[in-house]
Amino acid sequence: MPAVTRTATVVILDFGSQVSQLIARRTREANVYSELLPHDTPWAEIVKRNPAAIILSGGPESTLGPDAPDCAPDVFTSGIPLLGICYGMQLVAKKLGGTLVPLAHSEFGPAILTVDARDCPLFLGVPAQSRVWMSHGDTVTAPPPGFSVYAHTERSAVASIGDAARRIYGVTFHPEVVHTEAGTAILQNFLHEVAAIAANWEMASFVDDAIARIRGEVGTANVICALSGGVDSAVAATLVSRAIGKQLTCIYVDTGLMRRDESAGVLAAFRDVLHLNVIAIDAEERFLARLAGITDPEEKRVRIGHEFIAIFEEESKKIADVQFLVQGTLYPDVIESKTPGSKAGHKIKSHHNVGGLPEHMALGLIEPLRELFKDEVRKVGKVLGLPDAIVMRQPFPGPGLAVRIIGEVNRESIDTVRAADWIVTSEIDAAVELSPRPWQYFAVLTPVRSVGVMGDGRTYANLVGVRAITSEDGMTADWARLPHDLLARISTRIVNEVPGVNRVAYDITSKPPATVEWE
Ligand code: XMP
Repeated sequence: MPAVTRTATVVILDFGSQVSQLIARRTREANVYSELLPHDTPWAEIVKRNPAAIILSGGPESTLGPDAPDCAPDVFTSGIPLLGICYGMQLVAKKLGGTLVPLAHSEFGPAILTVDARDCPLFLGVPAQSRVWMSHGDTVTAPPPGFSVYAHTERSAVASIGDAARRIYGVTFHPEVVHTEAGTAILQNFLHEVAAIAANWEMASFVDDAIARIRGEVGTANVICALSGGVDSAVAATLVSRAIGKQLTCIYVDTGLMRRDESAGVLAAFRDVLHLNVIAIDAEERFLARLAGITDPEEKRVRIGHEFIAIFEEESKKIADVQFLVQGTLYPDVIESKTPGSKAGHKIKSHHNVGGLPEHMALGLIEPLRELFKDEVRKVGKVLGLPDAIVMRQPFPGPGLAVRIIGEVNRESIDTVRAADWIVTSEIDAAVELSPRPWQYFAVLTPVRSVGVMGDGRTYANLVGVRAITSEDGMTADWARLPHDLLARISTRIVNEVPGVNRVAYDITSKPPATVEWE
């Protein structure tokens, strides 16, 4: 689908910095729509977006190197307001005739920025001195002709340059990271003061645009969507159903691997609150049969993924004239597959998502959220009236409780982990005073057995692990410092209420080196 055209677009060219995505997030937080594109995107592609401003990100390379990453030359001559960040500023300097040299010692981490030109529009309202975050190995010694120097740090005499007439600016530090105290103000100054972009990117207008686009694209065809219970598929399905109503059929496969009462709650919300057209398939027996005797985590994931797709395909064949599939793809997934900065890395776990449908199904894709970050999806969910139970639902892995049972998945092990999980989640949910709130929390059933004593008798039963983490995105995580009283309540309740468990351990490992899930 084409990008939203109603509001101004800022194009961010990505030179591979670890924090490029944050530039997109910050502009959107300023109610300005932005898209992150690879640095070598052809100019014709850039102008298609009719950008109201262009931002060049930082990057790991040096502009002085032989193969320095570059961008279309028109970026520097088009007259569109331009901001270069770190590598981006160095590229501006290099292209427009400034002088650069490598620093004897790279400047990493915090520095104090002194603003020398307080009337520069980039620094309006910014204190004379503030903390910024640096990460660069080269420095500009002389700005290009026509440019002024606006700020310095102890180690960089030229920390910001600009040419007000051409509306081209540069900063050596990273305004997009939270460690740069005035970073948000500086970015917003660029967007609103320099580029004169109105702050009108809002979720309500996104919803209206998306609905109109989906209607235009689908026409009278039928559309299917796999609902997982998670926020992305729920928001995507609700948007599509607002556009085309009963032409959308949602399929909810109950794997039998969900948490207590979860399937019923999710289905009730889909049907009664969101009025989605949902077919629910009770497939517990099929998944149990596929998982019998399997203990390897990856094998569990693969089998669950295949079974899911088989069921989804069987069900969708029953619907006439299906031409499209709705997917809850988000912007980070899109960026990851497009930009040079994202390296595939080692595969730690194969994440089963509904993506991998067989090619012979040959369906068109509708991905209404592919321009959004997770927090924006939540905002859209709220605009659409999705209940908090779905919008704020903590992440739950596609393979469900199967990867929270170390060892074989069978009815008994599922019942045990589900009962323990219910206690963990309800106790932590009830502890409303917790700050920060854990991002994800659950129980894990282990095959470890230990001796205990209950009443006057000896027990030999299983160990349950409790995991609660704080995180922003699940990529890195720390274990949550839960109050001891809360942990004590959870532990006491689990050993008293869950048959077959006589010991509870709290997981105090961060990610890395551990992962969030135990499998
Ligand atoms: P890990 O265990 O990889 O988890 O540190 C990071 C986040 O991903 C979730 N997770 C999964 N989600 N399918 C999913 O859809 C999976 O197979 C899967 N494995 C882990 C995990 O719950 C955490 O939020």
